[in-house]
Amino acid sequence: MNAKKVHIKTFGCQMNKLDSSLVCSALKDAGFILTEKVTEADVVLINTCSVRQHAEQRVFSHLGHLKHIKKSRPHLIVGVIGCMAQRLGQELLDHPVVDIVAGPTQIPQITDIVTKTIENKKKTLAVTKKIREKSPTPSSLDALELTCDSDKNHLPRQAFVRVMRGCDNFCAYCVVPYVRGPEVSRPPAAVIEQIKKLARTGVKQITLLGQTINSYNYSAGDKTYRLADLLEMASQIDDIKWIRFITSHPRSFDEAILHAMADFKKVCPYLHIPAQSGSDKILKAMNRKYTASQYLELLHTARDIVPDIVIAGDFIVGFPGETDEDFQQTVALVKKAKYKNCFVFKYSPRPGTGAIKKLTDDVPSEVKKQRNTDLLEIQNKISAEHNKHFLDKTVEVLVEGPSKKPHLNTAQNQNHPQLIGRTAADYIVVFNGPQSLTGRFAKIKITKTSPLTLFGKLS
Ligand code: SAH
Ligand code: SF4
Ligand code: F3S
Repeated sequence: MNAKKVHIKTFGCQMNKLDSSLVCSALKDAGFILTEKVTEADVVLINTCSVRQHAEQRVFSHLGHLKHIKKSRPHLIVGVIGCMAQRLGQELLDHPVVDIVAGPTQIPQITDIVTKTIENKKKTLAVTKKIREKSPTPSSLDALELTCDSDKNHLPRQAFVRVMRGCDNFCAYCVVPYVRGPEVSRPPAAVIEQIKKLARTGVKQITLLGQTINSYNYSAGDKTYRLADLLEMASQIDDIKWIRFITSHPRSFDEAILHAMADFKKVCPYLHIPAQSGSDKILKAMNRKYTASQYLELLHTARDIVPDIVIAGDFIVGFPGETDEDFQQTVALVKKAKYKNCFVFKYSPRPGTGAIKKLTDDVPSEVKKQRNTDLLEIQNKISAEHNKHFLDKTVEVLVEGPSKKPHLNTAQNQNHPQLIGRTAADYIVVFNGPQSLTGRFAKIKITKTSPLTLFGKLS
């Protein structure tokens, strides 16, 4: 077989980005050639997200686009992998353009699946039936993770490392437990071995990934390892300089994580901890299992233990039954929480979830839109005010590379293009500098600020 060219497109969260890079790495090892150009590909894989309807619609429009390409390249194999593949299964395989449907739990077998589909010229369905009833053994899922040498698709000298799979929280709106299966923690020895391997390839920053990473829990003999233990163990790896972890759930948050942040300077003082709502009534309906005041109390404790901690959040507006008063409680929480930034999503009913079964999507879409805009505006003002404190200060960043969309009002210079860097606390910094700084740490003096970005010059 001649070397086949593969193009991969990724939607969704960091977990999906990591899966895509594992897929790329496995296919490359098997002799496939990766291509950026969809028009020259023999195989196109789309790694998909089901978290909101919009994410799925984008995949369907992409499939429409591929239909045209397939007219002139009839041998083209189109695979839909990831969360949407698991959710829709056969229904997706019935789409005229789709040849492969493979869920997130089938990713370790992706090379076989692609090769067989090419050889047999038959459609392949590879998803897990009754995913909530299966408890995959971590070792079988670890195979790909351990054989892939690096997370090549990610930013230079940065890597994602999965520490958990799945989710058992069943937030009423969320599809993740149904597409990613039950929560499983990877053995700490495997995680640490992988980080050491990444460090040997020059990686400086790792981001540990889990849907509710603070519930990491692995028992070996009489020892139970929690996230704080992993952070401590990872801190001891010499060449790793910064360690991040996402995403945390506010329920039963282990204070030892905060102490690890305070004690080990490699652990970045950044906590992404979604509140989702500020109304206790809505939080209860969402099955989040905490109240707004417990959430704020947790932020208070976090700031007590880690004075320089920076916090980010997520909110869903327009959840079923959300009145203006409930929304005002969310506004009040945002004002008190003092986030660095927050992500706001309009509620999107997802098939199979608790909310769609029991509750009516009764908030009109224009109201959702308005609440989304209002909340972001409030947060923007808070961020703008807060970011002003950086003026004339010097921050350290890990340089990600040239800015894809150059910012206005900042000089462009061929030898010193506009670069993007990120601080340990996740602030985005734009400055001019030599491209060779990519993947390195640099000190930047801040000269201008905006709600989402700091601007500065090399100091
Ligand atoms: N496991 C993570 C992230 C889950 S998905 C966590 O628990 O924080 C990322 C974000 O998408 C969630 O935090 C939530 O704000 C949003 N989200 C999830 N399901 C949604 C839905 N049905 N409609 C709108 N937003 C949703
Ligand atoms: Fe979804 Fe909730 Fe699990 Fe996050 S914790 S992935 S929002 S069910
Ligand atoms: Fe991630 Fe979307 Fe799946 S948020 S876990 S890719 S449903």
